[in-house]
Amino acid sequence: MEYAFYQYLGNISIIFWHFTLQWQRLGIHQYKPLLQGASLASPADIDISALEQKLATARIGRSLRFFPEIDSTNEEIRRNLSLPEGAVVIADHQTHGRGRQGRSWHSESGSGLYLSTLLKPDLPPEDLASLTLMAGIATISAIPQQTSAKLKWPNDILLNGKKIAGILCECIAEPGAHPAVIVGIGINLNHTRFPENIQDIATSLKLETGKDVDRTQLALSLLQNLDSEYEEFLQGKMDNLVRKWTEHSDMFGKTVTVSQKGKKQTGTAIGLNPQGKLILQTPDGKQHLLDSGELH
Ligand code: BTN
Repeated sequence: MEYAFYQYLGNISIIFWHFTLQWQRLGIHQYKPLLQGASLASPADIDISALEQKLATARIGRSLRFFPEIDSTNEEIRRNLSLPEGAVVIADHQTHGRGRQGRSWHSESGSGLYLSTLLKPDLPPEDLASLTLMAGIATISAIPQQTSAKLKWPNDILLNGKKIAGILCECIAEPGAHPAVIVGIGINLNHTRFPENIQDIATSLKLETGKDVDRTQLALSLLQNLDSEYEEFLQGKMDNLVRKWTEHSDMFGKTVTVSQKGKKQTGTAIGLNPQGKLILQTPDGKQHLLDSGELH
């Protein structure tokens, strides 16, 4: 969960709005107007009307917004924190898709699924880290079962050793208000190539299986899964979340190196604790609980 900047700045909404207005004045946010329920022309594209019709969820996607192009779906939610819980923003193309650790997320048109949802659980920020696990389970369960996709802590999804999906959870905690959590998910579906700088580490379902993926169907599965996994999270069924996450991963029992705040630790990945923290056992026999970092 990427907290740092937002959580500790106090009354962030004022700062944030100010920032946004400045950007708009500078003309940087030139995205196209909202198309609620719009659908694109080609059958290969995301059919938002069909998605809305088929969606049978309690919370996630009851409010659904589609943009042919936007800077970032996470940013769009952040600009609209008064949206109801479960609101979803989907884009065909992101001009400034964001990844973890300040990286960008390659978001070409017509190929991937880029969506964000807004959650407002009535819980303190320290209980929210496992939302990342929840999103990981929902995402990997939406990917066709016959692939051997695996979860890599904290929230990457790998297929044949390369990344096919990533999750960016951002928490905005204002004093006296429920925290808002923006869960952003990017999945590489029908990409046939990637830019040179990521072609050795990124892949897509199409590249790995040779088959085209129906983006509408995949979005539907993902939203349904998010709805049911979030319900379990709210009911406090952490054991279930940890069990499912573990079943979808092959990293436990292996030697890993975790970088966190410029520090590297090597040890055996033992498992996840009930709060979703990684238990890393170093060669001196000590067990460390890690809630963020990069795993190598
Ligand atoms: C990662 O670095 O692994 C996280 C990538 C998250 C990308 C998704 S795409 C939809 C949402 N909007 C963004 O700008 N980022 C997330």
